[in-house]
Amino acid sequence: MDDQTPKSHDEAARDILRGNDRGGFTVPTAGLYPYQWNWDSVFAAMGFATFDRDRAWRELETLFEAQWPDGMVPHIVFRADEPSYFPGPSVWQADKGPLPSSGISQPPVAATVIARLAAQDPDRAARLFDPLDRWHRWWHAARDPDGTGVIAITHPWESGRDNLPDWDRPGDAVDVSGVGTYTRRDTSLVDTDQRPKKKDYDRYLALVQFGVDRGWDYARIAAETPFFVADPGITAILLRAERDLRALAEAFGRDPVPIDARIARLEAGHERLWNPDAGAYVSRNMRTGERAPWATSASFLPLFAGVTARKAELLGTLDRFSRSVRYLVPSFDPDSELFDPLRYWRGPAWAIVNWMIADGLRQCGEDAWAARIRSDTAKLIGESGFAEYFGPLGAEPCGGGSFSWTAAIWLAWGLGTINEGTV
Ligand code: GLC
Repeated sequence: MDDQTPKSHDEAARDILRGNDRGGFTVPTAGLYPYQWNWDSVFAAMGFATFDRDRAWRELETLFEAQWPDGMVPHIVFRADEPSYFPGPSVWQADKGPLPSSGISQPPVAATVIARLAAQDPDRAARLFDPLDRWHRWWHAARDPDGTGVIAITHPWESGRDNLPDWDRPGDAVDVSGVGTYTRRDTSLVDTDQRPKKKDYDRYLALVQFGVDRGWDYARIAAETPFFVADPGITAILLRAERDLRALAEAFGRDPVPIDARIARLEAGHERLWNPDAGAYVSRNMRTGERAPWATSASFLPLFAGVTARKAELLGTLDRFSRSVRYLVPSFDPDSELFDPLRYWRGPAWAIVNWMIADGLRQCGEDAWAARIRSDTAKLIGESGFAEYFGPLGAEPCGGGSFSWTAAIWLAWGLGTINEGTV
């Protein structure tokens, strides 16, 4: 190609994935996130699958190489020594797995993406069946030991939506007196106004220390942690993943009965997260029973999980969101006084969440809403590039640039063909 020819967005997206490839795993973006992140990798695989199928499977396989003997798949795999990143492996002291890693997990989107790609390469999908099954069982045992049907997080980072206002009040119970002094790296790379505040960061580090002090024993953590918050995001993503795992079980002649039991439990559990006043599924502090009073982007994910009992109310809430922002879907209720349009998970829109929400809407026959979210995502990226996330009022590109999962969603969702009007 002539150097003067402008690159298409498709080509730019492929270049980002290739450029962030560190040999079998992809970093979310160079600089800010120099390791392998769990759900970032899974979405990257979805993007790679559009032009390099082998590379897509490698991404998924390398993630599961880090699986702990207890089934946990860590949220960060520290594959290289990057002293520029904080908190790194020496802070986590989580040495229970085959590779250095963090001690918590992240949203289990892998089964959904593997089921999507399985027809291309059934043998490689089949080899990942047992690791997936073990990971899903870990979620139930470690994060819902009482079988309530809702899945809790033990650290805000486990939700993948790090500084959501939902974690503020439950976080008040975290003792930060032992945190000491430390130097953050994220605020030297990205505008401070777009990152979590120091108070949040102290809690993040105190909760890491809490896990270290308990040898990352999940039963002890679940029994003793002050921070155990049921998350509609993780609960819905796991339910969807269980359904996709069940489809894989059918395809590979494996026993679906234990998966059916887990599906039934999660389906029933969803009602515990319904907040009629918010018209939304919300998080719930499992220590106090308190439910969050507002909707977030995760409130819509039960539709992605096939839970449609509250569809009408959820559409009402989505409609309300759409009147307050220009681009869907803000990560946090835009009518709340805590809405902060450029600060990370307190307002901005994220392409990966949009993809999941739109997939759910399409599944339950809401094609017009799905198309609106898809088209908003195409506009955000089209206008502002492959940023980590975007301002929902003015499409501002926020956080890191040349971001793997934003590029991956562009490709996997075929956003370059948006004018064709398909979802
Ligand atoms: C931030 C996000 C998290 C993501 C990570 C790497 O921590 O909140 O969801 O996985 O960055 O992109």
